[in-house]
Amino acid sequence: MKSLVLYRSQYGSTEQYAHWIGEELAAETDSFDNLKKYDFDDYDLIVVGEGVYAGQMKAAKRLAPLVEQYPDKRFIFFIVGIADMEDQENREKLYADLAKAMGPAVERVKVFFLRGVLDYAKMGLKHKTMMWLLVKYLQRKPEEELPKDADQLIATYGGRVSFMDKNSIEPLVRYAKGESAE
Ligand SMILES: Cc1cc2nc3c(=O)[nH]c(=O)nc-3n(C[C@H](O)[C@H](O)[C@H](O)COP(=O)(O)O)c2cc1C
Repeated sequence: MKSLVLYRSQYGSTEQYAHWIGEELAAETDSFDNLKKYDFDDYDLIVVGEGVYAGQMKAAKRLAPLVEQYPDKRFIFFIVGIADMEDQENREKLYADLAKAMGPAVERVKVFFLRGVLDYAKMGLKHKTMMWLLVKYLQRKPEEELPKDADQLIATYGGRVSFMDKNSIEPLVRYAKGESAE
């Protein structure tokens, strides 16, 4: 089985997960920006990962027509975000964001959810401002209306929090190798 792993990563967490996955699958691993260098006809499995920003997934949008164009290929998409991925509601929200980006092609990709990093020291001004607005908005909400991980988001504001976990790629790797029906 020949696999290709592509990632779109702004601060490196999706890139790190992509390299871990690429090592496990003995796959070529590259930035999604280099998409044009690759011919999907040369691969059996294409894995694409992307960090999510305010529900936006740009690589997913670009991938969608290719998924339709290669009906005999297997596709895996992994979303990297700061949300607690054990929480079903969070997964549903992120899946809905992905479906919005991909349209009907989403049904042809197997989706996995991995947890990344928030590091304010590395963030660009635009992202810092977005996070400031989000935290202000959350702080004004009554306690009972707050989303589950809002407390954590507020408490870690301005600092660094990392949930990078190599073990969390295991279900994806098993699925990619055809070892599990998950
Ligand atoms: C401005 C901003 C918006 C974000 N929006 C989301 C989001 O909607 N959902 C989520 O789970 N994580 C969100 N995150 C967290 C990122 O997805 C997380 O930092 C991820 O590790 C980024 O991956 P990357 O470093 O590969 O780009 C956001 C982060 C920033 C800075």
